[in-house]
Amino acid sequence: MKKKSNPKSDSAKESQTQNKRQANGWWGEGPVFVFLYDKRKKEAITNGVAEEILQFIKESENTLYESEALRVIRIDNEYSHPVLFVDTGKETGLDQLDHLRMAGYRLAKWAENNAIKTLMIPPLKEDSLAKRYAILQGLCHASYAFDKYKSKKHKRTDVEYLFADNMEIDGNSLQTLFSGIDFAKDLINEPGNALTPAIMANIAQSIAHKLGLTIKIRKTKELEKDGYNGLLTVGRGSKNEPAMVTLSYKPKQKCIYHLAYVGKGITFDTGGICLKPQDKMSEMKCDMSGAAIVLAAIKVIAELKFPIEVDAVLCLAENRPGENAMLPGDIFKAKNGKTVMVENTDAEGRLVLIDGLAEAAELGATHIVDIATLTGAIRRALGTSIGGLFSNSEGLTETLIESGAEQGEKWWRMPMDEEYADSLKDKVADIRNIADDGPGAIVAALFLKEFVKKDLQWAHLDIAGVDFVSKSYKYTEYGATAFGLKTLVETAKKYSEDEIRS
Ligand code: BES
Ligand code: MN
Ligand code: ZN
Repeated sequence: MKKKSNPKSDSAKESQTQNKRQANGWWGEGPVFVFLYDKRKKEAITNGVAEEILQFIKESENTLYESEALRVIRIDNEYSHPVLFVDTGKETGLDQLDHLRMAGYRLAKWAENNAIKTLMIPPLKEDSLAKRYAILQGLCHASYAFDKYKSKKHKRTDVEYLFADNMEIDGNSLQTLFSGIDFAKDLINEPGNALTPAIMANIAQSIAHKLGLTIKIRKTKELEKDGYNGLLTVGRGSKNEPAMVTLSYKPKQKCIYHLAYVGKGITFDTGGICLKPQDKMSEMKCDMSGAAIVLAAIKVIAELKFPIEVDAVLCLAENRPGENAMLPGDIFKAKNGKTVMVENTDAEGRLVLIDGLAEAAELGATHIVDIATLTGAIRRALGTSIGGLFSNSEGLTETLIESGAEQGEKWWRMPMDEEYADSLKDKVADIRNIADDGPGAIVAALFLKEFVKKDLQWAHLDIAGVDFVSKSYKYTEYGATAFGLKTLVETAKKYSEDEIRS
């Protein structure tokens, strides 16, 4: 598994490499051997005896480099190979696979900085494909950088991991997944001036074209015709008009399940007339994370040709004050006939999502998952490591949580007690978009529930806490995490496997 190299000229790169090697007292062109162990638990992760490894490290005098989690030791045998010991147990609270992802990430970063090309990893204890994938995923995460606006480009990781035996690894599906992850991150990190609803619709169009997906793009006129008034109301304040983009992937096989993924795509959220405070408002360029993720998800699913029918609905709009902007107190009629009063223009995500949910039902989906940077409240409740999950279906909940757990994305199922739904009743309209007080993330989910057909299996993923990091978290230094994408891809995979069995 090799990540792409940067386009810098080879000779310039070579001499840089030489310099680094010399600076480190480095020699030898061969691979660097890597041993993984958990210092805290005193466990060897790659084959070996933990006590011996720890003893060896303690006694070794030739330490070339040392940090909290990495240690490079030179072994003076006939090969004179540097050997890398990596403590995979540094963080608390991660599961085993996430420890391996972190190890893979750190290794790749270290190798990149030291111009090491190849790392050789011996078989792991209780080895499995999942464990090896996790290490490789860390490598893939390490190679991402959003540097298109920097004059000086980040050096892409050009590191190769070799496993010392030949357990078969499907590098292709991993590459496909990660090109999807990088694609979603690029979209999310893009500033508001460079990614308007129309631009995002064009990007979706070119993907649909390349992959043979059907696509329907509704702009103002078509939205009016079809009664998608949530998008129209939110988008009114901007000269960049709103859009709904629906992509459909249909495999040749007959399918039982039909998934629809609906993404919140606010390309910038100023809050509208209920303007947000200025502190970190710039990060609201990430308010289209949900749409980026569902677009990337259908791209990966189609590229991997999963035997399942999937739609992606992108609800795209810019939320800003303007001459024509929606006002607090405005009322509009949703597609399902309910009237909605806009109490707060900053609670705009739920207004565009009700259109996406209606579209998903019209497409005949059996299972609908929406994903949205919906509430600051979910961030306060679950922090920056765990996404919020709301659902009317035990089965869908289980599949999503399990898929996430396998992929290093944690979800916590939140309650949706109807008691709180009363707070959304309005004196003039059928429903209002915020409650006077109460648990914000739950109330937002209850609002959405009013617009989901009763017999459909539905889940709502609130990623406002996890989609974007201001400071380094796990394998992301700054910016978009694309949290949720791996869960959606894995969920589609699980439903398609279920189908093959039946
Ligand atoms: N896009 C925001 C939510 C958000 C907050 C995303 C922080 C990412 C990080 C959403 O549109 C919003 O403004 N929600 C309001 C709702 C409130 C007005 C009921 C919020 O959470 O403050
Ligand atoms: Mn908002
Ligand atoms: Zn928003």
